[in-house]
Amino acid sequence: MAWIVKPSGTMQIERRSEPYLTEAMRRELEAETLPRYPTKQAATLPALHMVQHAEGWLPFQAIEEIAEFLDLDASEVYDTATFYEEFFLEPKGRYLIQICESIACELCGYVDLKSKLCRKFDITNCETTDDGKFTLQMVECLGMCDDAPAVLINGKMYRKVTWEQIEGVLDALPDDPNEFDAPGIHPAQE
Ligand code: FES
Repeated sequence: MAWIVKPSGTMQIERRSEPYLTEAMRRELEAETLPRYPTKQAATLPALHMVQHAEGWLPFQAIEEIAEFLDLDASEVYDTATFYEEFFLEPKGRYLIQICESIACELCGYVDLKSKLCRKFDITNCETTDDGKFTLQMVECLGMCDDAPAVLINGKMYRKVTWEQIEGVLDALPDDPNEFDAPGIHPAQE
């Protein structure tokens, strides 16, 4: 769980005129999502996913809009969004690099991968490079323990990763992530 302390009393919330939770999203939530749940509150996660899928992250304005739509306090939606590491409350880079830090990957060398990557891009966990290209996120088991260490790049899984391999992949990534053939599972290194 991520506890985030912010100066809430004086915090400025950036706003734009058009809503993040669009009319189309509201209609879809009403028609397809809400009927599946016993309470409106239970649709918080689908609503958060919907906006994050469209925007890449969750601005505070979106949190407020979701709260208003679901008859909740913004603090309740914010609590939910900060509980899960899958949700981003700040814009992330064009490429999200997720390194598993659970036990099998620890035994197989994720620490070395992480420290080399942090040095190369001058970032640490949950930070984004100055050019907005890469965000690093350390995550729990990716389900690839047999082929540890495992790294996800924009949803594409790399297994039995070595630093030389992953550095080559990162160096070759196009500027436009739409040109990257994720998601999928990359063949494991032998
Ligand atoms: S421990 Fe890393 S994939 Fe399972």
